[in-house]
Amino acid sequence: MNGEQLESVVYASNMGSYEQACKRFQWKDVESHFTWSRTGKVNMAHEAIDRHVYEGRGHKTALLYCDGQREEAYTFMQLCMESNRFGNVLRKYNVAKGDRVFIFMPRSPELIIALLGILKVGAVAGPLFEAFMETAVKDRLEDSGAVAIVTTPELLGRIRRDELPELKHIFVVGDCSSLDDGSLIDFKAEVNQASYEFEPEWLDREDGLIIHYTSGSTGKPKGVYHVQNAMIQHYYTGKVVLDLQEDDVYWCTADPGWVTGTSYGIFAPWLNGVTNVIRGGRFSPENWYRTIERYQVNIWYSAPTAFRMLMGANEEILDKYDLSSLRHVLSVGEPLNPEVVRWGWKAYGQRIHDTWWMTETGGQLICNYPQMAIKPGSMGKPLPGIEAAILDDEGRELPPNRMGHLAIRTGWPSMMRKIWNNPVKYDEYFRFNGWYVSGDSAYMDEEGYFWFQGRIDDVINSSGERIGPFEVESKLVEHPAVAEAGVIGKPDPLRGEIIKAFISLREGYQPSDELKEEIYGFVREGLSAHAAPREIEFKDRLPKTRSGKIMRRVLKAWELQLPTGDLSTIED
Ligand code: WT7
Repeated sequence: MNGEQLESVVYASNMGSYEQACKRFQWKDVESHFTWSRTGKVNMAHEAIDRHVYEGRGHKTALLYCDGQREEAYTFMQLCMESNRFGNVLRKYNVAKGDRVFIFMPRSPELIIALLGILKVGAVAGPLFEAFMETAVKDRLEDSGAVAIVTTPELLGRIRRDELPELKHIFVVGDCSSLDDGSLIDFKAEVNQASYEFEPEWLDREDGLIIHYTSGSTGKPKGVYHVQNAMIQHYYTGKVVLDLQEDDVYWCTADPGWVTGTSYGIFAPWLNGVTNVIRGGRFSPENWYRTIERYQVNIWYSAPTAFRMLMGANEEILDKYDLSSLRHVLSVGEPLNPEVVRWGWKAYGQRIHDTWWMTETGGQLICNYPQMAIKPGSMGKPLPGIEAAILDDEGRELPPNRMGHLAIRTGWPSMMRKIWNNPVKYDEYFRFNGWYVSGDSAYMDEEGYFWFQGRIDDVINSSGERIGPFEVESKLVEHPAVAEAGVIGKPDPLRGEIIKAFISLREGYQPSDELKEEIYGFVREGLSAHAAPREIEFKDRLPKTRSGKIMRRVLKAWELQLPTGDLSTIED
């Protein structure tokens, strides 16, 4: 079975096909798509870009880039050529297979070309989100032992070169003449002189691809290391979850500094050869809707926070833009509130498809598929080929409707292969034999749908009742006054914990005791008495990660007057 047949099996027509696909699915059928099935070797940049040139799609548009100032289009041929040139530059500076090379810059075509060039020489890419400040940048470069970085003049000052002895080369995209002390390399000048001829480094499946740093519940950020083999998952989920088809225009709103922005902002769409939109610049409802209208985006992958912000925007804006090109809308990163799903149906005429996965998993695992009935609030079902389960604290599988550790049978293609420099942390994920333990709590219903409950540490126990904060938050945001809500367990001598809600209000609402009462009553009536927040605190904004998750641990630290810990992934 090749990629095309796989599509026809999974899309066969009706709900039956999901079960059918689960039975017939084999990873080796997807694997046959890549060069290693013929040569034993592979390279992600070849599979994502060059391959399309060799197969006659070189003149197809690969990238549509815009940011309010620049607007550019690149074909697969152009990306192939430009990344060849940067590959040659890297080789000139002796950057080689296995070296870690970081990218620290805002979204731009150069970021993409740099990343592809890094992959072509077989180096391991380390994308850093542009908002990182000095310490965060240093921690990551130091931990990974990066030998080179690609950055911009604006961000250069955040790289403590004198404290990073292993960092040999700094490539600057933009004018660096005034900053240059002789150690900087002008990216554009070098690329413009380099040859277009280039033979990529041919790699084994288990050779490195990318390191994404991510926060855990404790300690410094962890370097999650992924290998070439992950492309199997990216390609496959691009087909069956994103539903990418040949003439599609696809837009993933995530920044490549985060795993969604690489796995699904770069790899999945280009492995499938579709036209990929990358938008730089800041979020605004107008900018985003204009992007969909202008490029006739068919498939749109974003996050609950963004959808909530769009939901909070003036209703009239929806009439100003033509969003009718949309065929498939997806979400990831945090719980997708049922309220948002219902709103999406009203606003876009689209079912927003939730997808669940993590930096560590490298690709999607539990999803709502295009052909599947959606239960608002559920993350969906495991991909054909993936076994998911709910485990108790001893690693035993629990029956349906019991809350426990969300775990995945080890061995899916895009599973992380190490935590850089930290085998102990790595092993913690695999403490139950044969399982990867996600750190999320969830339950599975009788029909096999998975329901996210919270991070394990966030689950609230009040008077012996287990309460998922997500459930409460979802209810809270249904109240017309509530823009966003974060819920924590606050220690209570009588009840163990009580529920405390931090709430930011929508425009036009003022904090008041009456409003607290009303919101309390709303949850009490709408959900249950034990789930209603006995304490409510209004805040102008809630602390959130860059990927949009409300940081309950920060709320908890505020509440308990504890230190907030590592905040390097927090939003402005
Ligand atoms: C954590 C992973 C991988 C995409 C970006 C986030 C939460 C992710 C969902 C979802 C509820 C979700 C989980 C997970 N999460 N997707 N659909 N519903 N929660 O990656 O930063 O590594 O975060 O995000 O808690 O463990 P990440």
